[in-house]
Amino acid sequence: METLENEDSSFHYFIDEGLITDVVRVIKTGKEASVHQCRANPATGENLVALKLYHPLDRRDFRDESLYRDGEWIKERRIRVALEKRTRFGREVQGSIWVNREWETLTALSEGGAPVPRPIAATHDAILMSYVGDAEMAAPQLRSVRPDRDEAQDLFEQLIRAIEMMLFRNVIHGDLSAYNVLVWDGRVTVIDLPQAVDPRKNRHAEALLERDVTRICEHFERYGVRSSPKSIVSDLWTGWTFAELVPEELRVELEL
Ligand SMILES: Nc1ncnc2c1ncn2[C@@H]1O[C@H](COP(=O)(O)OP(=O)(O)OP(=O)(O)O)[C@@H](O)[C@H]1O
Ligand SMILES: [Mg+2]
Repeated sequence: METLENEDSSFHYFIDEGLITDVVRVIKTGKEASVHQCRANPATGENLVALKLYHPLDRRDFRDESLYRDGEWIKERRIRVALEKRTRFGREVQGSIWVNREWETLTALSEGGAPVPRPIAATHDAILMSYVGDAEMAAPQLRSVRPDRDEAQDLFEQLIRAIEMMLFRNVIHGDLSAYNVLVWDGRVTVIDLPQAVDPRKNRHAEALLERDVTRICEHFERYGVRSSPKSIVSDLWTGWTFAELVPEELRVELEL
């Protein structure tokens, strides 16, 4: 069993809450967080779970705020000023905004049936979620999977469909790549969503969608999947804009 450095970490909170019984191993330490495989209390509905523990604030690599948080307005002046001035308190708030965004996004998407891990519980610096893989091995990232032509086509289609499902739930990943997609049993799972943006608010949304789609198309091109990222993005964006303008009930009535 692995021991975690920080004695009063979120790990203890999840144990005390009776959600996990112990940490089995580190799956990966990334730029923003370390992810641990844990044994779950079966009451959670899982045998194994993944604990994503965000690094302490001074080790976190904050992404470009102005790009991702465009169109969001923080009502409380004290917090807004602290964020702008990047005070210590500001960075703390910033840190929890990222974790909270990932939690909210995972919740909305998994309830909507998109292929993302199911979030179980969270603290200010950690998220407990369903685990992808088996006891021996966590699911590999898409970048280290070597599919044949047909498998590649299938994975590609699953991902474009996932991007569409996310968009129709007003989520653009914003950092999608072959690193942030896991593959297990021929199915994709999209992970790592703290920077997700809402296309109704963010003026960079379409550009971020285009970057996400282009990265995926370029990855699959290596495995013989031909696609046109520009036309995929334009179809997705038009479909989404239309859905935003015409309410669901009316679309059903008009058989659109
Ligand atoms: N639910 C999960 N089940 C299995 N493995 C997971 C799960 N979530 C994350 N991982 C593993 O942990 C890695 C890091 O997770 P994630 O991308 O969310 O964190 P990160 O710190 O932002 O990483 P990076 O900076 O490398 O993108 C993933 O690439 C994956 O290998
Ligand atoms: Mg990642």
